[in-house]
Amino acid sequence: MNNGDSHNENDDQEIELVRFFMGPKLLGQTRLVLGDTIVEHAESAGVNIPTNCTSGTCGTCMITLLSGDVPLPDVLPPGLDDYMVEQNARLGCIGIPVSDCEIDIRPPL
Ligand code: FES
Repeated sequence: MNNGDSHNENDDQEIELVRFFMGPKLLGQTRLVLGDTIVEHAESAGVNIPTNCTSGTCGTCMITLLSGDVPLPDVLPPGLDDYMVEQNARLGCIGIPVSDCEIDIRPPL
């Protein structure tokens, strides 16, 4: 919905999307906003990811990163451990996508 009076024919930037799934079902998608968390993207996409502490401690908001890049902090927060990270777990409340991402809103099995 960009009805500005200029068009960017030399703009190489592609629109990057964060897409939310439950299994094979696409629940919603939204444009990547750098600096916003996974949970904030989910809200924009009309998808609910349950949260509790919103500080990386409880693990309630754990999701599975199917593709894309959500960098981890150097020191894992209490809500994640190495095993869960190997299973592509991220925490929605503190994870910040930096590229196109596909996310299953459920934690890894
Ligand atoms: S809501 Fe507690 S770790 Fe995200």
